[in-house]
Amino acid sequence: MDKQAVLEHLQREEPFLWINPECRSVDRVLPKLPLQYADILDAETRLERFAPLLADLFPELEKSRGIIESNLQPIPAMAAWMSDQARGHLPGQMLIKTDGNLPVAGSVKARGGIYEVLLFAENLATQKGMLAPDDDRRVLAEARAQALLRRYTISVGSTGNLGMSIGITAAALGFKAVVHMSREAKTWKKEHLRANGVTVIEHAADYTVAVAAGRAAARIDPLTYFVDDESSQALFLGYSVAALRLKTQLVQAGIRVDRDHPLFVYLPCGVGGAPGGITFGLKQVFGDAAHCFFGEPVQAPCMLLAFLGGFSSPRSVETLGLEMDTAADGLAVGRASGLVGQMVRDLVSGLFTIDDDSLFRFLEALYRTEHIRIEPSAAAGFAGPYFVTFSLPGRTWLQAGRLSAYMPKATHLVWTTGGRLLPTAEFTAMTRRGADASLTFLNACC
Ligand SMILES: Cc1ncc(COP(=O)(O)O)c(C=O)c1O
Repeated sequence: MDKQAVLEHLQREEPFLWINPECRSVDRVLPKLPLQYADILDAETRLERFAPLLADLFPELEKSRGIIESNLQPIPAMAAWMSDQARGHLPGQMLIKTDGNLPVAGSVKARGGIYEVLLFAENLATQKGMLAPDDDRRVLAEARAQALLRRYTISVGSTGNLGMSIGITAAALGFKAVVHMSREAKTWKKEHLRANGVTVIEHAADYTVAVAAGRAAARIDPLTYFVDDESSQALFLGYSVAALRLKTQLVQAGIRVDRDHPLFVYLPCGVGGAPGGITFGLKQVFGDAAHCFFGEPVQAPCMLLAFLGGFSSPRSVETLGLEMDTAADGLAVGRASGLVGQMVRDLVSGLFTIDDDSLFRFLEALYRTEHIRIEPSAAAGFAGPYFVTFSLPGRTWLQAGRLSAYMPKATHLVWTTGGRLLPTAEFTAMTRRGADASLTFLNACC
């Protein structure tokens, strides 16, 4: 499909799969990137150093001793339902990551957001002579360090979930926390933050504007640290740690990943940090045996647009006439992160778009078949296995990569990314909408 045809698809808000012609073998890509495997290990070690402090701050982390991780879960009943919908067998094993259940923040944004807050606290206390490299990080909860942290503000611009992750952690550590929320942010997320001592600033504009407002406010206040979702290496590395954890989980589950047993991973994408960081980690860990696809709402395909137009100055979807009017609040982003794009440009196999009706249908089906609660954004990955298996671009790509024969031995990993904190009344309304909806994207796919 040439670039003009892709742009027309985007403008018409039609779900489709785009295969990335720049995707290359990891041997050619990874050595040239500014971040390396050692950086992921460094982030993992830092999270381990902080685990005892996190376990003290958040009682829900007691059992995992301060490690924030989600389960890898088979979903046989949902997989059977998915095959029924396509009226064709989806070969391979279907699993999900349940990041919606991540403790503390209830979404994929927990790993990166919490990581960056910890990194800032560690750097600050070290600079002020209150922390030595080998010190127990629990000294940060003591009076002397608390007097320091209280003077600083950590702020962030968010559609909701990054704000939850940064705001809750920053406030628990003793910082002042300010979250600039875009118009998409749900009322219950704002209330949850305020209940946790976070200041919420509401913007009647989109995510890009909320981030810019937060960035500008922080620039004039030397005691404010701004977490920049559009260009943060720390967030990116925090997300990437998921890949190390996934490797252990796959080994424990006896699931092989190699050339003959490909791993297909489907990640919802907003600004790109979470799916980008995870993809970078997965490629480091599994090499070319991992194939990563990003899913975006048809109303906000900002990363796909950036893949087409370049990452030095990513174009906004508003230039296509799209209004970002989607129920997938976490993915309602107009302009992708250039930093993330540059990191994963040659690592992502493809991107697909999905309509809201289909998101609600998947949300309802996952709850009915597996009793797992997700929010609409978190459902975007479920379209991935269909696009790869059944669509013309998907089948052509599988054949070109000599993957078709291995599909029965493949693992499809749908990364579900949020939902645990959804109030029951909101969730029930969503399942009702889903029960009446259909998988509209299938018309374009199968
Ligand atoms: C539930 C959910 N899934 C996925 C994403 C996408 O993450 P990113 O914006 O880093 O691409 C978000 C972002 O907030 C989210 O809230």
